[in-house]
Amino acid sequence: MRKNFWKNKRVLITGHTGFKGAWLSIWLKMLGAKVTGIALPPSNKRNIFTITNLKKKIYKSIFLNIKNKKKLEKAVVSSKPQILFHLAAQPLVIESYKDPINTVETNILGTANLLEICKNIKSLKSILIVTTDKVYSNQNKKKFFKENDKLGGDDIYSYSKVSVEMLVKSYRKLFFRNNKNILTLRAGNVIGGGDWSKNRLIPDFIRSYEKKINFIIRNPKHVRPWQHVIDCLYGYILAVEKTYFKKIKNLETINFGPASKNNRTVKNVTDIMVKRYNFESKIKFNIKDSKFFEKRFLRLNSSLAKNLIGWSSKIDLNESVLLTLKWYEEFFKKNNMYKYTCHQIKNYISKN
Ligand SMILES: NC(=O)c1ccc[n+]([C@@H]2O[C@H](COP(=O)([O-])OP(=O)(O)OC[C@H]3O[C@@H](n4cnc5c(N)ncnc54)[C@H](O)[C@@H]3O)[C@@H](O)[C@H]2O)c1
Repeated sequence: MRKNFWKNKRVLITGHTGFKGAWLSIWLKMLGAKVTGIALPPSNKRNIFTITNLKKKIYKSIFLNIKNKKKLEKAVVSSKPQILFHLAAQPLVIESYKDPINTVETNILGTANLLEICKNIKSLKSILIVTTDKVYSNQNKKKFFKENDKLGGDDIYSYSKVSVEMLVKSYRKLFFRNNKNILTLRAGNVIGGGDWSKNRLIPDFIRSYEKKINFIIRNPKHVRPWQHVIDCLYGYILAVEKTYFKKIKNLETINFGPASKNNRTVKNVTDIMVKRYNFESKIKFNIKDSKFFEKRFLRLNSSLAKNLIGWSSKIDLNESVLLTLKWYEEFFKKNNMYKYTCHQIKNYISKN
C-alpha cells in the first residue's frame, strides 16, 4: 500500500464509532490520512470507539444523525473530503424487524442525504458506499453470488441496502458521471475484535463466556462468508488506491468475500471458539431455531476483486476467529487497545 498516496489525504468516514468504521479510521490514520468521522455517539458503554480512544487519534470526530441533512451538510462541507467511505447504517437484520422505520430512514434516506450533498463537493473524487452481501436475490441455492446477479431483499435490512444500490446507480448516471468515482462495496459476515453488536455470533459468544450464561446459537447449519475485518478493509483501501486517479471502466460494485473453503456454517465457527476455551464443559448450549427468517446459504464470488484490483482474502477462517478472540482477550487484560489494533493491522501488512 502506498503511504505516499494516503499521506494528508482528507478522508471522511461515516460510521467511525462503529465496528468497521473504527478499524478503518485507525488503519487510515496509520497511513497518514487526515480522517474526519461522522456518526452517532456510541450506544453502549463498551465500544471500540471509546476503548481505542479514537476521538483523540483522528483529525476530527463529529456526532450527528445522518437523517438530519442540514447538520450533515455542514459537517461534510467543512471536512472538504477527497475520499468518502459511507459505513453509517442500521446494520442488523433482526433489528430491522424490530424497527423497520429507523432502518429505512437511516439506510435509505441517510444515504440519499449524503449523495445529494456530495454532488456539490468539488474536492471529492472517490465515494465508497458500503452495502452488503445480503443485497442479492437469494433463493437459498448453494451458489456464489457475482456482482451482476439479480438484486432483491426479503427482510427490511436487505431491502434497504438494495435501495441504496439503486440510489447509487442513479446518482452515478445522473450526477457523478465525469468527475467522481462512486463504487458500492459488498462484503460478507465480517468478524474482528471490538464488535459488541447484539445477535452477532462472536459478540454473543464473548458476552456468554464473560458472564457465564447460556450461549444461544441461531441457525447452526447456516452457511456464511466469514471474513476478518482487516481482510475486508484491505479490499476497501485497495479499491480507492486503484481507482482514485483513473476510473476502471464499467466497475461499479465489488464483492469482498473469503476463499470458497471459508464459507462455513455457524456451527463451524462456534466449534473453533469452543475448542479455544474448553467452553462446553461449563456452559450449556441452547440450539434453537430463530423466529426471524434468515437465508440458509450466503456465499460470495470475489473474482472481480482479484482480477481488477488485485485483492483476495488472505486470512482463513480459523485464523480469523482466533485473531478476533485474541483481541477480546487483550481487552479483558486491560491492555492498550489502540496499540493492539494497530499491531494486528501491522502484522497483516507485513505478512502480505
Ligand atoms: N459487520 C458486518 O458483518 C457487515 C457485513 C456487511 C455489511 N456491513 C455494513 O458495514 C457497515 C458498518 O457495519 P458495522 O458492523 O461496523 O456496524 P456498527 O453498528 O458497528 O456501526 C454502525 C455505525 O453507523 C452509525 N450510525 C447508525 N445510524 C446512524 C445515523 N442515523 N446517523 C449517523 N450515524 C449512524 C453508528 O453510530 C456507527 O458508527 C454498515 O453499512 C453495514 O451495513 C457490515
